[in-house]
Amino acid sequence: MILVTAANGNQGKLLVPRLVAAGAEVRAWVRSESSADALRAAGVAEVVVGDLSAPGAIAAAVRGADSVYYVGPALHPDETATGVAAIDAAREAGVQHFVLSSVLHPNIPELVQHQSKLEIEQHLVSSGLEFTILQPANYMLRHRLVPAFEHGVFRLSWSLDRRQSMVDVDDVAEVAASVLLDCQSHASATYELVGPGRFTAHDLARIIAEVTGREVEAEQIDPDTFLKAALGVESLDAFPYQARVLRAIGARYSSHDFVGNPHVLSWLLGREPTTFEQFVRREHEAYRGAAHV
Ligand SMILES: NC(=O)c1ccc[n+]([C@@H]2O[C@H](COP(=O)([O-])OP(=O)(O)OC[C@H]3O[C@@H](n4cnc5c(N)ncnc54)[C@H](OP(=O)(O)O)[C@@H]3O)[C@@H](O)[C@H]2O)c1
Repeated sequence: MILVTAANGNQGKLLVPRLVAAGAEVRAWVRSESSADALRAAGVAEVVVGDLSAPGAIAAAVRGADSVYYVGPALHPDETATGVAAIDAAREAGVQHFVLSSVLHPNIPELVQHQSKLEIEQHLVSSGLEFTILQPANYMLRHRLVPAFEHGVFRLSWSLDRRQSMVDVDDVAEVAASVLLDCQSHASATYELVGPGRFTAHDLARIIAEVTGREVEAEQIDPDTFLKAALGVESLDAFPYQARVLRAIGARYSSHDFVGNPHVLSWLLGREPTTFEQFVRREHEAYRGAAHV
């Protein structure tokens, strides 16, 4: 039995079907009942609904699991404690292998969520559990392309002139599935998962424009505006931690490039990782297909 946390998240949505298709028994953790039915219909053996950060919640969910795929709750003030509790619970329950989805370059302390991941990685490496750590770069995300497809605007909440490496989440899910289906051969490994290239926002806008055949402008928005839109709120007063994370991202990515190397991902996939252009082409075709339904 494989426990997958954040099963309705960016990675989980792509990973769980891969595991089910490979014949694995999956216990999927979701935050709300509304996403549970779809997972049951997709052939998941068990669904756990609950708050990952609730005391004792993870201990019940890991019972009977052979391995854990742990994606922590995004933008959560208790991210570190929740990750540490998951590792402790897995060890106590006799889980054989713990796969941690971390982040590229967790050793950048200015990035609040990287500091959390670093502490969780350190706890895992010293836990005595068999482990694998995946360190994905920033995801190529479908919803970030929609304003470009619809209005010709590609928005980022940091300097348009700083470079970024990114990774296709589907490539991450492919690696995660192969690690989980063959844990032993990936024991004690830490893998950086990075797609090819280093792009400024202007480079990305130009690629989107070439693929879609429409003009696309890069636009910088401030982190608070970005976060309010993502949370669907007018004020961030009730979200001080989330605001701190987003402001730190905006500051760091505006003062430094955030780049990595695709060699490890190429080796794990046994092929070249998906390029940003291939990603935009795929998503644009899906977008146009959906618009014609
Ligand atoms: N986004 C990136 O580019 C990127 C890159 C590298 C690493 N990461 C890391 O990957 C992790 C996930 O980030 P993401 O951006 O990809 O988000 P995501 O997986 O799409 O969203 C987080 C998932 O966690 C679930 N969740 C959140 N709080 C929860 C809680 N308290 N209890 C149970 N489930 C909870 C959410 O449930 P619902 O579906 O119910 O909302 C959602 O499915 C984060 O740790 C992030 O730092 C992200």
